[in-house]
Amino acid sequence: MQKLIIKGKREISGTISISGSKNATLPILAASILANKVYLKNIPLVKDIFTMIELLNFIGLKIKISKIKKTIEITNNNNNINTLAPYKLVKTMRAGVLVLGSLLTKYGKAKVSLPGGCAIGTRPVDLHLFALKKLGAKIKIKDGYILAEAKKGLIGNTIKFPSISVGATENALLAAFYAKGKTVLKNCAIEPEIKDLIFFLKKLGSKITIKGRTLIIYESKLKNLNVAHEVIFDRIELGTYMIASALVAKNKIIINKINPKIVKSEIEVLKKIGIQIFQKKKSIIIKRVKKLKNINIVTRPYPGFPTDLQAQLMVLLTQVNGISKIKEDIFENRFMHVPELKRMGALIEIKDKSAIIKGPTKLTGAEVMATDLRASVSLVLAGLVAENRTIINRIYHLDRGYELLEKKLKNCKAEIKRV
Ligand code: EPZ
Repeated sequence: MQKLIIKGKREISGTISISGSKNATLPILAASILANKVYLKNIPLVKDIFTMIELLNFIGLKIKISKIKKTIEITNNNNNINTLAPYKLVKTMRAGVLVLGSLLTKYGKAKVSLPGGCAIGTRPVDLHLFALKKLGAKIKIKDGYILAEAKKGLIGNTIKFPSISVGATENALLAAFYAKGKTVLKNCAIEPEIKDLIFFLKKLGSKITIKGRTLIIYESKLKNLNVAHEVIFDRIELGTYMIASALVAKNKIIINKINPKIVKSEIEVLKKIGIQIFQKKKSIIIKRVKKLKNINIVTRPYPGFPTDLQAQLMVLLTQVNGISKIKEDIFENRFMHVPELKRMGALIEIKDKSAIIKGPTKLTGAEVMATDLRASVSLVLAGLVAENRTIINRIYHLDRGYELLEKKLKNCKAEIKRV
């Protein structure tokens, strides 16, 4: 099994380019089932994207990837379509459940494996099914599969989600595409990745308006047979490198291929801690500041501070003066990195949904492992700032979502290698 070895306390300098967003690409790939021919640019070449491509292939779509250009061409000629998403593909990547909305609205039926829980929580799909039922789908659960049917097609409705879910909003948006009449979705997630999906669906022919957390989807027709789309940048990757820069930049790090307007809450939090940030149109400069201040934050749906940056922020908070608090309000079990950070010397206490972090503490290298993507990358950040050598196990988690992580850090003179 591969490991990452990091020699810590090396200052980094240079420029980092941000890749396309994994969490925008995944629903857009699921949406390509609705289309005939799709050409996607700025695709992150990470494991989860390849798993989704495998799933689309299984369903019967033809796919051509250019790893050099980072593009994917998807053709759906509607021949031999398999409206099934098998367990073996959905269990390794929950976003596989997003093909449910597309298959059901286009072909009137779908059989999709229930994704099950994962390291960060139980993560049910009840809200996805709630929305599909409101659009007229008949749904049964049998042998670990969701069996969904809408023989005469889905019918638009007004749906208010009882709580905010990114995946359920996406599945409902996809299902509403071919639904008859108007669909109104209330209390939706409005993450930038969802706005990118909406932008893509509009290119296909959908008419969608966004009013706060309400999305109105008018009856759509596939207008454009050939659609090209460039996926937005990965704001979580950006946040991760902003935090890495705040921890170990020699002086400053320039991060480009981004739009700072999309990460206002992250910038605000880092500025509150004392980091100097200079924003340009498509880049950002992070200046490391030695004396940093403690903060209290709560993870929230967008535009709040993202849960996907909670673990990384926690590493930074081990280096600030005073006691900080992070309340994890999205997932019930997303502190899996804490025992590993404690083994590196961090002083962190968990109380209910909150982590109390005492800083500043000197971190020292250790052999560590993590159980999800963001927890793993937080250990990389801890390794960068720690004394001596850190060995990170189970790095397949990192490969699910961070494109060229070692290369990007090595280009900035970090000492990191994969063995
Ligand atoms: C998306 O997951 C992201 N994944 C996650 O990123 C991210 O952490 C999460 O949104 C929150 O921002 C992708 O976009 C592929 P949710 P999703 O439905 O859609 C509960 C990463 O590291 N819930 O918004 O699965 C759920 O258990 C990943 O890149 C229900 O109760 O998240 C959670 O507590 C990890 N019933 C909360 O809602 C449902 O039917 C928010 O989950 C659905 C969700």
